[in-house]
Amino acid sequence: MQMIEANGASIPALGLGTWQLNDRVGSRIVEQALRLGYRHIDAALIYGNEKEVGEGLRASGVKREEIFVTTKVPHSELTPPALERAVKQSLANLRLSDVNLLLIHWPNAQIPLAETIGAMCKMKKEGYTRHIGISNFTVALVEEAVKLSSEPIVTNQIEWHPYLDQSAVVAQTRRLGMAVTAYSPIARGRAAGDATLKSIGATHQKSAGQVSLRFLVQEGAAVIPRTSKVERLTENLSIFDFELSAAEMAQIRKLARPSGRIVDWGGAPKWD
Ligand SMILES: NC(=O)c1ccc[n+]([C@@H]2O[C@H](COP(=O)([O-])OP(=O)(O)OC[C@H]3O[C@@H](n4cnc5c(N)ncnc54)[C@H](OP(=O)(O)O)[C@@H]3O)[C@@H](O)[C@H]2O)c1
Repeated sequence: MQMIEANGASIPALGLGTWQLNDRVGSRIVEQALRLGYRHIDAALIYGNEKEVGEGLRASGVKREEIFVTTKVPHSELTPPALERAVKQSLANLRLSDVNLLLIHWPNAQIPLAETIGAMCKMKKEGYTRHIGISNFTVALVEEAVKLSSEPIVTNQIEWHPYLDQSAVVAQTRRLGMAVTAYSPIARGRAAGDATLKSIGATHQKSAGQVSLRFLVQEGAAVIPRTSKVERLTENLSIFDFELSAAEMAQIRKLARPSGRIVDWGGAPKWD
């Protein structure tokens, strides 16, 4: 598995997204993904399925030390006492003593960022998480978070796929030594039906979904596609045995459009 090194963390470039993978599907897909070679699982308290994710981790038989587990603190739980409670709840759900990466799921303007970042650092110092990170942080907020943090911030997890130009926030995140993790990396399935991506894929014997993921990996991102189908686990994993040319990368960048954002939370909490 290709790794991304950022501020002391080593993050597998491909992970499994787990939003909406509930009940039996959740545990089974996590188990199968790990058996097939995935080593990075993206969870969140708000997804309501950390218990199933933990069951899948254990059922896979893969050693805990080999798996990079991320979870996230909800937007509503960012005061220090609430954050600490949320983290302990996540660990109890997952039945883990720590996670590899703890993210602030969405920023919350109602709660001073200094307090939240202070609480995140405390969680790291006390051993609940090995690394801390942020998600859905804008150019300005990324800089503020880094200034306020006594611990390195290792990633900014953002929506990123061929329909969305994220170059400004990506440049800012990189400038500060952080990785970028791309969520909704196949645009919630839309990229899989895209004519341009299909035609590029045909020359490599790859699907449009694989081209979308490969594009992001070549841009330097970690990708966390979700699927509820075992056969697609293999498809989404098979993106490290081909390379897009500079011309193909440029062609894919042209698919970006101002209305390309899919996860538009409009300032209100949106739990995905
Ligand atoms: N930090 C945040 O605020 C945030 C926000 C959104 C998402 N995330 C994380 O990022 C993960 C991924 O994002 P996402 O779930 O929004 O979207 P996504 O991974 O881009 O797309 C998932 C959808 O695409 C389909 N799909 C998966 N692989 C496919 C393939 N090879 N060909 C065709 N269709 C395919 C899946 O359907 P099937 O199940 O039928 O395969 C599913 O409907 C989430 O699960 C979550 O862990 C984080």
